[in-house]
Amino acid sequence: MNIAFVASESVPFSKTGGLADVVGALPRALASLGHQVTVYLPRYRQTKLDNPGVVVRSVTVPFDDQYRFASVVSGGTLGGIHFYFVEYPPYFDREALYGTPAGDYPDNAERFALFSRTVLEASKVIGVPQIFHCHDWQSALVPVMLRTLYSEDPAFHDVGTVFTIHNMGYQGLFPPDTLPLLMLPWDLFTISKMEFFGQVNFLKGALVYADYVTTVSKKYSQEIQTAEYGFGLEGVLRNRSATVTGILNGVDYDEWSPQNDKFAVARYSPQDLSGKAKDKQDLLTAFGIKNADTKLPVIGIVSRFAAQKGFDLIAQIADRLAREEMIIVALGAGDKAYEEMFQRLHKQFPNKIAVKVAYDNAIAHKIEAGADMFLMPSRYEPCGLNQIYSLKYGTVPIVRATGGLDDTIEPWDARTGKGTGFKFTEYNGESLLLTIKEALTAYRDQTSWQALMRNGMNKDFSWNASAREYGKVYERVRQMRTATHSAPEKVLVS
Ligand code: ADP
Ligand code: GLC
Repeated sequence: MNIAFVASESVPFSKTGGLADVVGALPRALASLGHQVTVYLPRYRQTKLDNPGVVVRSVTVPFDDQYRFASVVSGGTLGGIHFYFVEYPPYFDREALYGTPAGDYPDNAERFALFSRTVLEASKVIGVPQIFHCHDWQSALVPVMLRTLYSEDPAFHDVGTVFTIHNMGYQGLFPPDTLPLLMLPWDLFTISKMEFFGQVNFLKGALVYADYVTTVSKKYSQEIQTAEYGFGLEGVLRNRSATVTGILNGVDYDEWSPQNDKFAVARYSPQDLSGKAKDKQDLLTAFGIKNADTKLPVIGIVSRFAAQKGFDLIAQIADRLAREEMIIVALGAGDKAYEEMFQRLHKQFPNKIAVKVAYDNAIAHKIEAGADMFLMPSRYEPCGLNQIYSLKYGTVPIVRATGGLDDTIEPWDARTGKGTGFKFTEYNGESLLLTIKEALTAYRDQTSWQALMRNGMNKDFSWNASAREYGKVYERVRQMRTATHSAPEKVLVS
């Protein structure tokens, strides 16, 4: 089938989180199943392109105040996938993707509306796909525009839409007058469409208008239909639950595997774990931890620093945690409050807790390779990729049993030798501390610990199975759309 991905980030061109990993890898897995996939992205300042050729010189995007003119450049093919970039420097040639520490860019509605509309217009030149597969609120206006502004456009007659929720916590909320500014009809401003507590909600628009909604794990697909995890949109999802499903993210083992990691100083495998000790030493050096007893277990963290990730629990137990025999190395950036929290903890416990406030892919890999355990105490986690990478590196995950963390990590049972990690359910510091202590105790028995490491390393979370699931969703959407259109066509023929 012919699929166009529309998303706001993808490796190797732009990245703030796991969305980029997914958009960079899933199209290739779909292509290997015989689908044709193109990917549309914004061209940011950080997007490095070798030989960008202009494919659509000018797309007119009408806004209430004035027309804007975007263009589309080709980024060439990568692994058989064609990447196209929407170029509009006033919106995308900026320091960051979505905002700075001072806050989101105030014109994000305009930026991603222009992106979405340009993709639709450009596809008429480049090739209209059978399915637009959109991701998160930044491309949520694609299904909305298709079924409103473009509903009469013959070019899009049979086109289906799939919308994947990577995170319900980011919805794209804007003031009501955003609708006329973007030339969208006022009748979208009702509770059954895009209105949300007096604001316009882009994500809600996609949840109403997309033919099929997916999210990135089974557990999360259930959780978001409840008040605790639905961020106010649980009712919208429950209303259409027959066309909502969870498909677990895969991971790209070409990038994330201890056997061929480009950033680790030593390679290792389930058959020969010895290289991991060198990676651990290298990791400690990278974090400036000198003369550490290398027998002490190292707990790694790689994360956006955001409320979602559960680091307030660490603050609750820091004093007691620091008394344990372990070292924490954390890499992250984001909310000032968490950056400062980790820096404070480092000052207080310099030999126990080290932090790098940065976005650094090389260090992220070094943590996966060199740490003994990986901590993700998330408040909620749609899928989570780092715990899956950690499994492959024998870096045993300690996670909260939520969303994809719950779906991917099985609790370790020393008696049966089964399981891949440690998890806790109650969102509080005590439960986290108990679970970390359980992991530290298990670590003391190195023979069974290595069995635990190998259990994780032997798991296979590659994209193949999940790509097939997406293939089935695309097929269903095709059938739904053909069914919708068959009746009027028959009338025309007769
Ligand atoms: P989320 O998408 O919610 O941030 P995921 O676990 O799905 O969480 O994916 C996070 C991705 O971003 C991983 O590839 C991880 O290595 C990367 N990442 C997160 N924070 C950093 C950082 N500070 N430096 C480098 N990579 C990071
Ligand atoms: C989101 C989620 C994360 C998920 C990623 C990719 O940012 O927070 O859990 O793995 O998207 O789907």
